[in-house]
Amino acid sequence: MTPLGKLLVLGRDADVIAAGIHERGLGIDVRGREFGDVLPADLADRDMLLAFRIPPALASAAGGLRWVQSTGAGVDGILACPTLRQDALVTRLVGVFERHMAEYVLARCLAIAQRIPRLERDRRDKSWAPFYPRLVRDLRVTVLGVGVIGAAIARMLRSLGATVTGVSRAGQAVEGIERVVAVDALADVLPITDVLVVVVPNTARTRGLLDRAALERLPAGAWVVNVARGSVIDEDALIDLLRERHLGGAALDVFRDEPLPHDSPLWTLDDVMVSPHVAGLTTPQDAIDAFVANWRRLESGEPPVGVVDRERGY
Ligand code: GLV
Repeated sequence: MTPLGKLLVLGRDADVIAAGIHERGLGIDVRGREFGDVLPADLADRDMLLAFRIPPALASAAGGLRWVQSTGAGVDGILACPTLRQDALVTRLVGVFERHMAEYVLARCLAIAQRIPRLERDRRDKSWAPFYPRLVRDLRVTVLGVGVIGAAIARMLRSLGATVTGVSRAGQAVEGIERVVAVDALADVLPITDVLVVVVPNTARTRGLLDRAALERLPAGAWVVNVARGSVIDEDALIDLLRERHLGGAALDVFRDEPLPHDSPLWTLDDVMVSPHVAGLTTPQDAIDAFVANWRRLESGEPPVGVVDRERGY
């Protein structure tokens, strides 16, 4: 690809990221805009975009883009843009989320085993009610999605002795995971799952994958940990099964609607841990480094890192 010259940095900390890229002296024209301030005209003359998503209001101005570097791992919010040229290159961030997301999931598994939400409730109620904590090594964890991030999560949990089953499209072996099955066999592994960790990208194949029937196949008391996208899970069914106490609980970083609406029962249900989409947050420095490294690769004719297969959606 010939070197490109005009970049829009869009989203949180856009000014910081734009200034950081400018300082790296690439000789390109860099503009930064937060989502609240951006106008179609800010994008219309750009051939490069560094962003997590392209808001629908900007679609009319996206046709000149030849390269979009995502500031995230998931690129669903970019691929959804109907005016993105078919031959536009889309790259996603790789190599920065694994450790964060693995520790996020480990923290939730420890909280599940140690029953931390229940302890918090007991503290509020001044209730002294001893119980037997579990160990992570006694948990059967199913990791739905064993790409780079899912595999790192699986390895982290295995290092504490958990029994981990990975689920992927084709069920191919993944280094460091004892057992990986194809998604066709998901229904068979759900009943032998204490903690279901969701790490799949949001694609046509994964949207609604965890519907009521799938969630009902989890054994009574199982937990769901979602660090992927809200769209993978039928949120109403999840809420029903939490209310009915079929599910032991849920640790959710992502939701059908974000920010999570104030009237969502997920804010107040017992044994639900909520976080504001921070399991794998990109720092401004990560975004700067990823953009600059890929820009240099493109300029020198080397293959960029994190190229997205637009058909597959990740
Ligand atoms: C965050 O959700 C990401 O996809 O990086």
